[in-house]
Amino acid sequence: MSGVKKAALLTGGGDSSAINDFIRSLVIMLQREDIGILGIRNSYKGLIENRIMALDTGTVDTLCGSGGTIVGTSRTNPYKIEGAVEKILKTIESNHIDVLVCAGGNDTLTVASKLKEEGVNTIGIPQTIDNDILGTDYSIGFHSAVKNIVECTRMMISSNIAHDKEMLVEVMGRESGFLAVRSAVILGAGGALIPEFPVDVDALCEQIKRKRRAGRKHGLFMVSEGIKLEGGQLLADEVDVFGNVKLGGIVYGLADIIDRKIGVKPRVNVLGYTQRGGEADQYDSYLSNIFALGVTENINNGIFGHMVGVVNEKPSNIPLADAIAQIKVVDRDTYEFANSMGDIW
Ligand code: F6P
Repeated sequence: MSGVKKAALLTGGGDSSAINDFIRSLVIMLQREDIGILGIRNSYKGLIENRIMALDTGTVDTLCGSGGTIVGTSRTNPYKIEGAVEKILKTIESNHIDVLVCAGGNDTLTVASKLKEEGVNTIGIPQTIDNDILGTDYSIGFHSAVKNIVECTRMMISSNIAHDKEMLVEVMGRESGFLAVRSAVILGAGGALIPEFPVDVDALCEQIKRKRRAGRKHGLFMVSEGIKLEGGQLLADEVDVFGNVKLGGIVYGLADIIDRKIGVKPRVNVLGYTQRGGEADQYDSYLSNIFALGVTENINNGIFGHMVGVVNEKPSNIPLADAIAQIKVVDRDTYEFANSMGDIW
């Protein structure tokens, strides 16, 4: 037994569906162990400002499958705010928090790793639709985002067919193309353009021309927001508090280039926040329960400074420092498989 009496939980960075399933399971599991749990409002911002909410079985009972996060989120980097880390340590001490569970993407986990060095017992949880975290098969939110992408895109395909239109659908994912490759295969798209492999626009144009000559005048390409063009770049220059480039909208430029090259102007759709909202995917909800189980086991066994992953549907552990050392990216085989299923004309 680790002697933990009180835990606190925060969710940071971009929200995603199935976080609430995780929160619900964790609260129920910890209550069963007689461990109290607090919710920190809006990520590290709430820790700095001592904004805390009580969580118990009654509060979380009806959260299954709901979107968003009941404790709120934000992109707050305490290491960029003077005096913030001291305030965080004070909040942890004054609320008698023995362990801090931080669910989020690379930025949230990086802060959790640093707080561990300050002496805080942190446990990380990979929570991002991007699925770009090492040490876990999937992160919370990924499957829900794929579900949303597939559902939204299917609503548009009939119109593309009716109008003989090509369409570029932009999805999120930052520097990783998991959302694009997964949805491209499910949708039978012509291809997935992802950040891991520079886009060869001439080859893409050739593919479109070949396909149209073969009589297939509609088309669909799934495009990651972080793509780079061979020999050039298409990136915005605005950055957030963690230094991440603000992405989104890259497909408009790509559609113009294709139009200039072959006289075919693809329709463009940027799915944006539809990807992060709404009811959770069932498998995502299920995995969230396994993540909560892993956190409960770590608390009971006194394992801190690690991120709980889920590997082969079982909880696993990776030191936070290793989980954030680099981002997880799509490998060549997966990329080529996704594209081989689309380039068939
Ligand atoms: O990291 C999750 C994510 O949804 C990325 O895919 C995307 O680039 C980013 O968040 C969008 O950030 P924001 O919520 O700040 O617009």
